[in-house]
Amino acid sequence: MSSFIEKEKKARKVAIWIIIGMIGIWIVLSIFSFTGSEVRKRPNTENISFNNQSALKGKQVFQAYNGMDCHTIVGNGAYFAPDLTKVYEKTGAAWLKAYLGSPGTYPTQAIVNVNFQQLKNDGEIDDANFDAYLEKYEGAKERIDRRAGVKALMPNLNFSGEEIDALIAFFKYSAQLNTAGWPPEVKARQSVIDDEADKLEKESGLIRSFSSASKPAGQQGNELNTNASPAVSGQQLTIDLGCAACHSTDGSKLIGPSFKGLYGSQVSLDNGNTVAADDAYLIKSILDPNADIVKGYPTGVMPSFKGMVTDEHITDIITYLKTLK
Ligand code: HEC
Repeated sequence: MSSFIEKEKKARKVAIWIIIGMIGIWIVLSIFSFTGSEVRKRPNTENISFNNQSALKGKQVFQAYNGMDCHTIVGNGAYFAPDLTKVYEKTGAAWLKAYLGSPGTYPTQAIVNVNFQQLKNDGEIDDANFDAYLEKYEGAKERIDRRAGVKALMPNLNFSGEEIDALIAFFKYSAQLNTAGWPPEVKARQSVIDDEADKLEKESGLIRSFSSASKPAGQQGNELNTNASPAVSGQQLTIDLGCAACHSTDGSKLIGPSFKGLYGSQVSLDNGNTVAADDAYLIKSILDPNADIVKGYPTGVMPSFKGMVTDEHITDIITYLKTLK
């Protein structure tokens, strides 16, 4: 009898030690899960920002415009448009800023370059120069080579300049998420992608075969001017520089006001004033677009072309605008 009790006591002791051991393992593993590098590295929407806009605000902008209705983030959302989790890592901020500023058209190299220079001056980009940027963000280079000037399916959501910066902050945040490779890359056949691009290009009203699309803004007009009339060269500049993505020539409203009938017209500004669209006004609009804001249009969306275009470029553009009666 006593040996039976002894046995029971021993078994109970063993059981207690097993439980203590398991609790010990549980505590140790719990500590690991809090001190593990993954957790410490996890990005936070509150301390990531871009151009003074927080990723938290960007997340709210993404939600307010129902980004998930077309796009996915970490695979969540609608599978109509590309997953955006890593888009910042692929294209960088300058391409995103150019694209979100004119979402109906894929940006040209020149307009990405204009955004690059501005963001560099603002201290938001630290790549040494535009070539270094394109080398680092292959997705930007690839998109420019393949689709510059082609119509995009994304609608114009009328983002303000601040909303665009906030969205970039959000993408900067999402690019830092450890997604463990999710969602997987879509493996569409390249020929299918090319066919789609060609189709869009044909439907697009824009001329894609720029004579100089792959050169930086500063080098473009010079060649054109030598063998084209100022109005023709001005027209080409509005395509190469990406103006055409935001300004129509048929009176329709894109991101900015139409160029049709602009020259010599009376423009209503959002401060209540009216100005005549003469040479001085147009020059100012191109070099310092936020000085006067046209009534009903967003602030901070048109980039400044200061330092990116010569006086001759501007004269040619104005000569061209005069022809758009
Ligand atoms: C990313 C879009 C975008 C691009 C690219 C762009 N613009 Fe604009 N532009 C706007 C918006 C938005 C406005 C209206 C707000 C304002 O007045 O700044 C505007 C206003 C203007 C105005 C004043 C129009 C008026 O009705 O008074 C002119 C002129 C102009 N842009 C010329 C150009 C030229 C030339 C280029 C290319 C060198 C260009 N823009 C590129 C968006 C753009």
